[in-house]
Amino acid sequence: MDHFAYRHRSLYCEDVPVAELAREYGTPLYLYSEATLIHHLKQIQTAFAEAKPIICYSIKANGNLSIARLMGQHGAGFDVTSGGEYYRAQKAGPADAKIVFAGVGKTDAEIRYALENGVYLFDVESEQELHAIGRVAESMKVVAKVALRVNPDLPPKTHVKTDTSVKGVKFGLDIETVLDVARGVVGHKHVTVAGLHMHLGSPILSAEPYRLGCEKGVKLIAELRKQGHNVTVLNMGGGFGIHYRKQEALPASEFAKVILPAVKETGCQLVLEPGRFIVGNAGILVSSVLFTKETGGKRYVIQDAAMNDLIRPTLYDSFHRIWPVTPKDDVLEKPDDFEAAIPGTLPQDVVGPVCESGDFLAKARNLPTLQRGDLLAVFSAGAYGMAMASNYNARCRAAEVLVTGHTHRLIRRRETYSDLVACEVDCLK
Ligand code: LLP
Repeated sequence: MDHFAYRHRSLYCEDVPVAELAREYGTPLYLYSEATLIHHLKQIQTAFAEAKPIICYSIKANGNLSIARLMGQHGAGFDVTSGGEYYRAQKAGPADAKIVFAGVGKTDAEIRYALENGVYLFDVESEQELHAIGRVAESMKVVAKVALRVNPDLPPKTHVKTDTSVKGVKFGLDIETVLDVARGVVGHKHVTVAGLHMHLGSPILSAEPYRLGCEKGVKLIAELRKQGHNVTVLNMGGGFGIHYRKQEALPASEFAKVILPAVKETGCQLVLEPGRFIVGNAGILVSSVLFTKETGGKRYVIQDAAMNDLIRPTLYDSFHRIWPVTPKDDVLEKPDDFEAAIPGTLPQDVVGPVCESGDFLAKARNLPTLQRGDLLAVFSAGAYGMAMASNYNARCRAAEVLVTGHTHRLIRRRETYSDLVACEVDCLK
């Protein structure tokens, strides 16, 4: 469910016509629906309610301060993966927000920063990291609470670049060695192994990997307890899939069905780290058609959003639905199936202005005939869209707008040319 819908052949974000927002703020433009954001957070809160979960919004999916603030206001903590994300979470979140800190490469400075600011839990990904945390905590005369991140070694379940629980990836501790690593800190004065963490990958469209992961997790928790660790937290990470092609995502309740029994059995506090599930379908990228052309037997739509605005198609061959913001009379409003033949359309590559053949948002996509100035909506772009945007080709990053009912607010201004050189030192001038 989202709040992007066509009314009389005009796309609305909640109660505001998208074309009006494109006129006011320009393109490329990221638009977010507050109602959709809250709906998805609530869906997880409701599905897992009986476990009273700590839901740590994964700020890497979209770290905009207003979005993070909204999450905090509705009861979320934060999952961060760098000192910078920690800073964002703290700046936008409530003072008592619970922050979990994952990532394979934490520096001593980041560890110290997190400890100084009352981090809830470090998700620890290697033996050396565990001891580095111990040393920093000792130097500060504090005790660091950690969850051991285990790689449960499950069958492939998503794109190879984002599958984090198959053998041979850099994440977590191997399931065969996690207990040896844990044994090394039994009785440690400055590190408490308080939890077990796993993040299986992203996006995941089936509950089965979570069932398998929980099965292994329950056994490991029992072993850790036997070693003397007081394990009280089970952190199952994020990864819940969303609708990219059609309505393919599972509701949160399907994941709850397989995760809640493990929570019950272990008596642990459940932590979840959803990012995409909350913000993915809550955002679209709006662009304007610049030109069309036919070359090499293909039709191209050249529009003003590029791989620097949304890199997912280039990086993962990922599919984002694309459709005109104000479709003409003779084509459908918004098709249900974008991969089927759609009357009145022709296959076209949707590309941007960046100087790379890999700069595309869609290939051979069925779209109606388009003209200069037509607006396009790229759907399901709220997660890992703006968060992965860059200034490549010295392109100014897009503006971001949050829509709430009939109102809209700028939550990040469009960058200017002077922003592009703001951090540089022109020392030879
Ligand atoms: N927890 C940890 C430890 C993670 O590494 C991630 C995502 C999450 C939670 C949140 O996962 P989510 O609920 O958003 O699926 N750039 C890629 C996705 C990379 C995900 C990285 N880790 C993409 O655009 O598909």
